[in-house]
Amino acid sequence: MEGFDEDWFVGVSVSKGALFLPLQKLLTNYLLTVGFVLFLTTIAVFKLSKYIVSPVERLVAATSDFATGKAVTPLNEKTYQEIDRLNQTFTAMTKKLAQRERGHKKSTLIIETTDNGVIAVNKKTMKITTFNRTCEKLFHLPRYEVVNRTVNEVMQKSDNFKQFVLSSRVLEFVGEEKNKKFELQCSFHQNIYHFFISISSLPSIESEEIHDEMLIVINDLTEKRQMERELVRSEKLKVVGQMAAGLAHEIRNPLAIIRGFIQLFGKEEEVKKNHYDLIIKEIDRVNYFITDLLNLSNPKSSEELKKTKINSLLEDMLILQKSQLKMKGIDIEKEFEELPTVLIDPGKLQQVFINIIQNAVEAIEEDGVVTIKTKHLALENKIAISILDTGCGMNTTTIEKLGTPFYSTKQTGTGLGLATSFRIIEEMNGTIVVSSEEGRGSKFVITLSY
Ligand SMILES: Nc1ncnc2c1ncn2[C@@H]1O[C@H](COP(=O)(O)OP(=O)(O)OP(=O)(O)O)[C@@H](O)[C@H]1O
Ligand SMILES: [Mg+2]
Repeated sequence: MEGFDEDWFVGVSVSKGALFLPLQKLLTNYLLTVGFVLFLTTIAVFKLSKYIVSPVERLVAATSDFATGKAVTPLNEKTYQEIDRLNQTFTAMTKKLAQRERGHKKSTLIIETTDNGVIAVNKKTMKITTFNRTCEKLFHLPRYEVVNRTVNEVMQKSDNFKQFVLSSRVLEFVGEEKNKKFELQCSFHQNIYHFFISISSLPSIESEEIHDEMLIVINDLTEKRQMERELVRSEKLKVVGQMAAGLAHEIRNPLAIIRGFIQLFGKEEEVKKNHYDLIIKEIDRVNYFITDLLNLSNPKSSEELKKTKINSLLEDMLILQKSQLKMKGIDIEKEFEELPTVLIDPGKLQQVFINIIQNAVEAIEEDGVVTIKTKHLALENKIAISILDTGCGMNTTTIEKLGTPFYSTKQTGTGLGLATSFRIIEEMNGTIVVSSEEGRGSKFVITLSY
């Protein structure tokens, strides 16, 4: 055999384990070193990635919190340069946006809490973009039924809104950029409203040059006008009072003398008695008129205050009016609620009811309905009495003049009925609110505290 062709051989015997031991040691050391290095590298990579990724994750979380409207705490901690800059930019941006948000909320709050009605309309689409709380109350329209709808759509939905748009002629101002200011009168559900309207063009958010919205601001002057009317009325009453006092003195004394003599003549000359009676009746009429005048301007203080059951008072009065109502074919409808007693002079209140019902009867030409309702306004400690008729109604001039002494549209009217009634209710610290629509009827609501 090749290589073994000599006669002598040296044999070396080494165990397999001893032979591979150094090799195994080497391999173990190698594996340990590699493992250690791998372990160290993994830790380093983990630490490094945490260092890089964590701030980014925090920023992402803060961004999504901000986007969903949650509160964001400023990202102040120090990281590496790029993220630091990103954090600073983010914090500055959130601050600015929060500031802008606060400004926006404040403007919205102002629009929502102002007593003025605010409506904004897009001139191109004619869609309503703003309709504040005052408008909701004024037009009895919830905002969700108005915003993003066109003016025409809302007009079909609400009679009040339609009335307002038509009488203010706001649609004619769509093409104009000049501001318009004017006063307006509208009748919503038989109630007359006085408005001061201001119409202006609103610049668009994108550019000051483009005026794509129309802004309508409605200032409700109804209460102010009512107060002014009240003032004028009480001024007039004062004058009437002075005049009445003079008249009473000058007319009553001679009347009393004439009356006395005629009574005397009547006794003596039986034939002419009828004529004398007539003269006395007329003199008495003049006297009653003067009493009315005096009561109107200077009512006697109520000495007859009694705990009064208003429903019974109304029932009693209706018994007295029954025949008159029947003759004209007028139906009476009653809706009485249980009421607490009210401390008033019942005679005077009855006079008010009679005056108002008399007017209702006179307003109905033939066949109609007079509805009398009483209501307990427990929350306000008040009671309300409404008298509604289906008569001729009143125009705005008449409504405005109601309660003015001597104002009458009737040929034989003295125009003192309502003036006296207003005065009596005023004396009782109550209120009378009148609403009416020509051709449809009128409503008188008396409110009294108990
Ligand atoms: N229910 C009503 N319907 C229609 N018009 C009314 C009604 N109540 C009052 N008016 C109007 O108000 C005016 C004033 O009423 P008021 O009662 O003060 O006087 P008058 O009825 O004319 O006269 P008087 O009551 O002294 O006989 C009336 O002339 C009438 O035009
Ligand atoms: Mg009258």
